[in-house]
Amino acid sequence: MGVVVVGSLNYDLVTYTDRVPDAGETFPANSFETHTGGKGLNQTVAIAKLKDAKSSYKVKMVGNVGDDSFGEQLVSYLNKNGVDTTDVKTHPDVSSGVATILVEEKHNGQNRILITQGANGKTVYTNQQLANIFSDENCAQDSMVVFQHEIPDPVAIMRWINENKPGYRVVYNPSPFHPLNKEDWLLCDILVVNEIESLQIIENVYNELYVAEVKKSIKKDFVGAYKSICEKLQKDTLDQKRSAVVIITLGSEGVLFSSAEHPDVEYLPAITVPKVLDTTGAGDTFLGGVVTQLYQKATLKEAIQFSTYASSITIQHPGAAESIPHFPEVVAAVEKST
Ligand code: RIB
Repeated sequence: MGVVVVGSLNYDLVTYTDRVPDAGETFPANSFETHTGGKGLNQTVAIAKLKDAKSSYKVKMVGNVGDDSFGEQLVSYLNKNGVDTTDVKTHPDVSSGVATILVEEKHNGQNRILITQGANGKTVYTNQQLANIFSDENCAQDSMVVFQHEIPDPVAIMRWINENKPGYRVVYNPSPFHPLNKEDWLLCDILVVNEIESLQIIENVYNELYVAEVKKSIKKDFVGAYKSICEKLQKDTLDQKRSAVVIITLGSEGVLFSSAEHPDVEYLPAITVPKVLDTTGAGDTFLGGVVTQLYQKATLKEAIQFSTYASSITIQHPGAAESIPHFPEVVAAVEKST
């Protein structure tokens, strides 16, 4: 059994401020921290930390870093969390990926992120390399493989998996968003998006008239409109022959989800927390929770509930990967609430 994440590793340079400066403006920030990050690394660490210790499946990351101290720290953090890093390669000719992050402490910890791709640009593989990475010795037949879009062409790898490893389940978090060909959306089994990304997919795949209607309906009934987006993505965008799952996170407004088995869109509210410190990595934590829970055979609703609690813990701590809780902490939070 196993979960593999193919994605980015970034060194996060985080400045905490009351507000972001206007163009040409300079003023002092509150504090500065460095953290391990990158959507690929964060999601891998989330899966490793949120997996039930009683389950013995392997968590593996596939990606690239530069031959620098950032790269060393990123790989060592994965190793510390029990992740298999055999296929995280180090390159002498390029720097590690870096994210410059501004967190607005007076605005609910909301962030703005600028990414320098660095070694993440090397996360491109030939068919032979993919055959080695995903050989039967390295990866179980029922593996879940997770992608985001901070590497050059995740779709090419998804396509290879679809053609060569039909037993795998592909999880795609299209962040940052890149338009795909309509048929490429059919390559994924589990789509995890936030409200902005869900709308970007609608704009990518459907005609202007429909998009305009959707945008109008969001203004009238926010959650209701996203329910129909969720339904549209699940029924019309993903492949009906697979057990397709669509999850749309709406931040403080909660989560919507739908699957081929249970096509009626369901809703769970967000968890209220005393103080939001830093939202960086909240989405990655949520995704990690969903993946571990589904891999451990929880129902979709149980998986979403667990993940909502997990990300509510993340946003109360600074940083991305380091702020992700471990499985027992989330179980305790769920039990306390019931
Ligand atoms: O999702 C949060 C992550 O986005 C940060 O850790 C940063 O590295 C960017 O990739």
